[in-house]
Amino acid sequence: MNLKEHIRNVKDFPKQGIMFRDITTLLKNPEAMKYTSEKLLDFAKGLNVDKVVGIESRGFIFGSILSEKLNAGFIPVRKPGKLPAEKEQATYQLEYGTDTLEIHKDAIVPGDNVLIHDDLLATGGTMEAVCKMIEKLGGNVVQISFIIELSFLKGRDKLKNYDVRSIVEYD
Ligand code: PRP
Ligand code: HPA
Repeated sequence: MNLKEHIRNVKDFPKQGIMFRDITTLLKNPEAMKYTSEKLLDFAKGLNVDKVVGIESRGFIFGSILSEKLNAGFIPVRKPGKLPAEKEQATYQLEYGTDTLEIHKDAIVPGDNVLIHDDLLATGGTMEAVCKMIEKLGGNVVQISFIIELSFLKGRDKLKNYDVRSIVEYD
């Protein structure tokens, strides 16, 4: 299957000059959903995964499918103020300003093998911050998977120490 045929390209969203890769068209197609989850599962073959971490919000969709298939727990990483219990926090740089993400401190047990999933790799700032939080809690990041990689933004350069996988790339 050519997954790009199921990803909608929206010009000038959310602002002028950006070509937005929209996965809602992939999500509404059951064959494309199945293909995507099988590919992500295939990347993780042979790994011993204790926890799958999904990043709000689009990382929750396939992150939870993957966790069920890998017989692992699912851990949400959320935007600030959403998680109720004791939290670890990471703040990272955006083009203009900063952003923050949170994870529950008891979500990861030291020594856990963690697979992190998000829908899309752009600059890599989000994923780099999430890796730092997980490692601070004592987790081992065994794989990072994405559906889409915007390779021209070179997000992989921030994730050099990790096993980074993606299904489709845009240059
Ligand atoms: C998008 C995407 C990744 C992040 C990638 O999320 O889903 O999480 O940006 O960007 P980066 O590699 O440059 O850090 P967004 O902030 O749009 O959140 P959403 O999933 O809640 O829409
Ligand atoms: N699509 C979805 N999310 C994004 C994109 C995109 O093209 N760029 C940065 N985050």
